[in-house]
Amino acid sequence: MIFSKIKATGAYVPEKIVTNDMLSQYVDTSDEWIRSRSGIERRHFSDGENTSDIAAKAAIEILKNGNINPLDIELIIVATVSPDYTTPSTACLVQSKIGASNAVAFDLAAACSGFIFGFSTADKFIKSGVYKNALIIGAEVLSKHLDFNDRSTCVLFGDGAGGVFLQASEEECGVLAEELGSDGSRGMSLTCAEKKASNLFNQAEEAKDSFLHMDGRTVFDFATRQTPKCILRLIEKSSISADCLKYVIPHQANSRIVEVISKKTKIPLEKFYMNIAEYSNTSAATIPIALHEMMQKELLQQGDYILMAGFGGGLTWGGLLVKI
Ligand code: COA
Repeated sequence: MIFSKIKATGAYVPEKIVTNDMLSQYVDTSDEWIRSRSGIERRHFSDGENTSDIAAKAAIEILKNGNINPLDIELIIVATVSPDYTTPSTACLVQSKIGASNAVAFDLAAACSGFIFGFSTADKFIKSGVYKNALIIGAEVLSKHLDFNDRSTCVLFGDGAGGVFLQASEEECGVLAEELGSDGSRGMSLTCAEKKASNLFNQAEEAKDSFLHMDGRTVFDFATRQTPKCILRLIEKSSISADCLKYVIPHQANSRIVEVISKKTKIPLEKFYMNIAEYSNTSAATIPIALHEMMQKELLQQGDYILMAGFGGGLTWGGLLVKI
């Protein structure tokens, strides 16, 4: 049997840091409100770098950490909802920027669940023997989609990229259980950059804007109902008990959501890795940035079991129980 081993991780966040106090100079908000409602203290915003730029920087870091030749990459998946263009895909732009000319590259749009969906997709290509080497990146420049007149959303999101290099392996590792899901009937509770069907036959009104719009309470409710169920089902599917998990890496959207997930799953809060204070919600990038940070801090060793769980636009959710 073939397994997908995490050979290397990497991440990149733009240098510009925007604190809650800085934001409150532009938006009617306060450090106290943002901190107490979300756990966010600051976020990183691009100063001109686009999604493919930061995705490529994360990719270069991954290649460096794994001592990987870009020509050996066979598959590149970039999970993003903030691509530079509709076409070319961000993954094709990354392919060109890092010189991975032997890879097939495509984007995957599953919002904040995107990295989990991408990891799962690459895992199938590897397990089926089609490819041996795959690069999966979650990357977002969400700041370009933020409406700084809408204080209920613009304070919650930031920019960043992270990813992993997966390699075919004979040792039992990688994805041991997975659970992906979608509920399109509730999709309108989180939308971004609508494109109307306007053409020769139908002069539709221009889309109002390209901003991210969110019904925060609906998404909060969805995340705190769906994610605990997803985590518990994953544990049930695998032969790994919750006690054996070294860490849970949740999508970093809101520390209060994570507290509810911890209560409902009865997994102690200390097992949930959190870095939302530093980066805010970078959508598809939160989980790989956290994973890389944990690797750098040597919080994870080979053989450890982790559970990664994402939720977000679509609406979508997904979890992977992974042996490092
Ligand atoms: N600063 C100050 N006040 C703000 C504010 C801000 N940035 N944003 C909203 N408010 C105000 C609202 O206008 C409202 O005022 P009102 O009561 O006078 O109308 C008040 O704060 C309370 O808003 P409410 O919606 O009740 O807050 P909340 O406790 O539900 O928290 C969210 C709001 C958005 C933080 C919360 O719903 C949430 O985290 N949802 C999930 C969002 C998310 O994570 N999405 C991404 C998923 S991938």
